[in-house]
Amino acid sequence: MAVTAKEKAGGSKSPFGPEVPNAEDSVSRRVGPLYAPFFGLNEAPFDLTPNPRFLFLTRQQAEALGNLRYALTSSRGFTLIIGDAGTGKTTLVRAALDRIGDTTSRYVVVNNPTLARAEFYDHLAQGFGLSEGARHSKTQFLKELQAQVEDRFAKGGITGLVIDEAQSLPHELLEEVRLLGNIETATAKLLNVVLCGQPELADRLNDPSLRQFKQRLALRCELRPLHLSDTASYISGRLRIAGGSPKDIFTRDAVVAIHEASAGIPRLINVIADNALIGGFAAQVKPVPVEIVDDVCRDFDVMPSLGADSGQPAAGPRLALPGAVPEAPPSQQRQTSAGLARLRSRFRFFS
Ligand SMILES: Nc1ncnc2c1ncn2[C@@H]1O[C@H](COP(=O)(O)OP(=O)(O)O)[C@@H](O)[C@H]1O
Ligand SMILES: [Mg+2]
Repeated sequence: MAVTAKEKAGGSKSPFGPEVPNAEDSVSRRVGPLYAPFFGLNEAPFDLTPNPRFLFLTRQQAEALGNLRYALTSSRGFTLIIGDAGTGKTTLVRAALDRIGDTTSRYVVVNNPTLARAEFYDHLAQGFGLSEGARHSKTQFLKELQAQVEDRFAKGGITGLVIDEAQSLPHELLEEVRLLGNIETATAKLLNVVLCGQPELADRLNDPSLRQFKQRLALRCELRPLHLSDTASYISGRLRIAGGSPKDIFTRDAVVAIHEASAGIPRLINVIADNALIGGFAAQVKPVPVEIVDDVCRDFDVMPSLGADSGQPAAGPRLALPGAVPEAPPSQQRQTSAGLARLRSRFRFFS
């Protein structure tokens, strides 16, 4: 659990706290993965850390980022960001916070909200830099926080609370968060609250007991999986940033297979693409062909989701169920897919 504050005025660093990479991590980042020279890459293109240099925005994500920045920099009250696991919520929140140049504002990010009420207030008090007394007394906490946000507001700054993985917020904490949103003047909401979570969060807010919460939402955006052409742009974009030439690294069919198996979810795209590069390197084959992607999918028990031939986000990664009737090998299925020719013509970058 990490609660950290971004107070540029105070000269603190990232809102996510100082990163303390372990020695192995920093070495592998410096020299890149073993396969890098083979593919003409300078670094790992599909690292799972949300590195801002690798940020890729589809139109929908750019819109969500715009909304998020607006939500964080103006007095908006509550904002909801919904998206399946791996669709890029945390990445977007980091990008939005990183782009806020304003030094009078302060944001606290709660990354793991499965906390008891006292722990939650303790972490917020630390994040907002409140007194020791405010860490242990809710009355003191509210008094100090109100004074701080009013003072900052008067100076033109915003105070924000971002709760990531908010679908895991215990019910009692959701209620506490709603009450924190009551800190306001006659004309403005003083504490901006952004809740990021998986679709279950939206379902929870439909519960009649949380009706009041839902009514307070001023902004809502949803992150959806990538379409095929976006998956292709995402993969080629990351390969280029890592110093490579996309068409020499993956074949088109390999990219289609990655899209199908990942259902267009960036985290899964990264995992499958990275493992396919390892596979290509092991077999000393480039560009990496579809067969290697299929091997990776088999190893991960993720089957390409055929039907994803409309260029729409795929229906969802299909997990192989134990005991299920074995299906034809993915490569064989794909050859029978009537949509493949159409699919292949929908993006450039790969031969
Ligand atoms: N817009 C994006 N640009 C670049 N990489 C992304 C983007 N969205 C997601 N990713 C990649 O996918 C991984 C998972 O994204 P993340 O933000 O952690 O998803 P979520 O928070 O929705 O579970 C990130 O670490 C990053 O590598
Ligand atoms: Mg996340």
